[in-house]
Amino acid sequence: MADSLIPTLWQQYYQSNPGVKQVYDLFVEREAKVVNDHIALRTFDLDPINIEVLAQAFLELGYQEAQTYEFPIKKLIAKHYEHEDDTKPKIFISQLLTQQFLPIVLDIAKKIVAAIPDELLEDPKKLLISGVSWHPLKYAIYQELLEQSEYAAWLYAFGFRANHFTVSINHLKTFDNILEVNAYLKDKGFKLNDFGGEVKGSAEELLEQSSIMALPVSVEFEEGSFDIPLSYYEFALRYPMENGKLYSGFVAASADKLFQSTDVGKKAE
Ligand code: NI
Repeated sequence: MADSLIPTLWQQYYQSNPGVKQVYDLFVEREAKVVNDHIALRTFDLDPINIEVLAQAFLELGYQEAQTYEFPIKKLIAKHYEHEDDTKPKIFISQLLTQQFLPIVLDIAKKIVAAIPDELLEDPKKLLISGVSWHPLKYAIYQELLEQSEYAAWLYAFGFRANHFTVSINHLKTFDNILEVNAYLKDKGFKLNDFGGEVKGSAEELLEQSSIMALPVSVEFEEGSFDIPLSYYEFALRYPMENGKLYSGFVAASADKLFQSTDVGKKAE
């Protein structure tokens, strides 16, 4: 059923991320309701699986395309989709520009597409929650991709699923600003992504965001099990525009730093 897509993405995300579950539960202790600001999804730029294909699942749910973004450092483009009901999360879909890397990235992306069953390629709602259908995973390939792009390596290891959800601080009743959220998390022992500062963006940019670092999960490769960071949890506070409505876009410079939250700690660029 079409409208089970977002709840299913949430269940996958919540259940497979020990850190996310702990953080979500900490907020539920204080808040009657935790509303998500957005969900981030990742893919490659190949026609059968690109942003436009994945977006169909959300257009069917009444979402509309809003804005396009470019991330020249990470070599990505992204679009965001939103719903007129502002308690429904915005959908942020990015795609890796595979041809801007060494040929291995495009080569593996093509192999991934070839391995995805037609049944999933024909139905973006199923594809979006299908994880990895290109088993067995090879750690040597993961490492080769990692040399090129952390994003490509993440997609190879984890496939189609939510990369992260983001709590809407605007909808929290017991926190007044992002610093209080950050302090609460640090007090409970979580490490925030401090690449470029703990708070990304600013009131002037109408969007402030922070995130915890992704905690590693064990992934089965042909060569054995390895721990890899899966997903982080993000927090967003939006400010009103001159017309009084909350800003609904994203700030490319901040997102570039947030993409760092799943970094395996190899290099800071
Ligand atoms: Ni995000």
